[in-house]
Amino acid sequence: MGKIVVAIDGYSGCGKSSTAKAVAKDLGFTYIDSGAMYRAATLHFLNHYLSPSNPQDVAKGLKTLEISFKINPDTGKQETYLNGINVEDEIRSMSVSEKVSEIATVKEIRKELVAQQRRLGKSKGVVMDGRDIGSVVFPDAELKIFMTADLETRAFRRQQELLEKGELVDLEDIKKNLVNRDRIDSSRTESPLIKVSDAVEIDTSNLTFEAQVVQIVQLAKEVIDNEKDYASNHR
Ligand code: CDP
Ligand code: CDP
Repeated sequence: MGKIVVAIDGYSGCGKSSTAKAVAKDLGFTYIDSGAMYRAATLHFLNHYLSPSNPQDVAKGLKTLEISFKINPDTGKQETYLNGINVEDEIRSMSVSEKVSEIATVKEIRKELVAQQRRLGKSKGVVMDGRDIGSVVFPDAELKIFMTADLETRAFRRQQELLEKGELVDLEDIKKNLVNRDRIDSSRTESPLIKVSDAVEIDTSNLTFEAQVVQIVQLAKEVIDNEKDYASNHR
């Protein structure tokens, strides 16, 4: 199958990462979780008591930051590593969620992570989710999706996810965190979350998980077929 870049952006908890993972699997593409990279950077800053508002701390933090992804051979799931240590569960905790959007406003941190994301996607055949994938990381992505869902639905889904990991968090606290992150992510100066004009908007509030995966896979296949037709007509 032809290789394209599928960019999935949107608010927190509307299903971007789980959908992106399933879409990548179906297309035989690589899934890249850009949010996990901002989360790993946040954990690094927290672990070393580094302040994102202190330029010296930022330089120090970036110099010692190494993020990678590995597939767990037992589960087949992709996991995030920070300086060689598996941090997949730790980066999803509320303490990281509470700090991540502040870290993600810092220009130097974004510059470094965007460069890494572009390297990871340079051979195409990737599905990447985040906040600025269609607008900044891959503005030429062949397929751009903007996912939304209402706040109640997003908070409930996030609560269920945390519960499955043994963390019981009050629904109101989750809502507050989602609203706060959406506000910071949408209003920051550096690469704010926006719906670009060539993105297809999908509201997942009343969709089943399977339906949204099928919809995006279908769109991707159409784009791949169109590219193939275009290439054969211009030979
Ligand atoms: O999974 P969830 O929607 O809660 O968030 P995430 O995708 O793990 O991203 C965590 C945070 O990282 C977001 O709230 C943004 O502040 C930041 N982020 C970003 O600024 N740009 C990206 N491309 C991805 C994430
Ligand atoms: O990446 P983002 O924060 O946008 O969302 P996520 O981490 O994929 O979390 C969404 C959660 O809602 C996952 O547990 C999904 O299985 C679940 N879900 C969904 O994404 N879409 C539905 N239609 C129903 C449930």
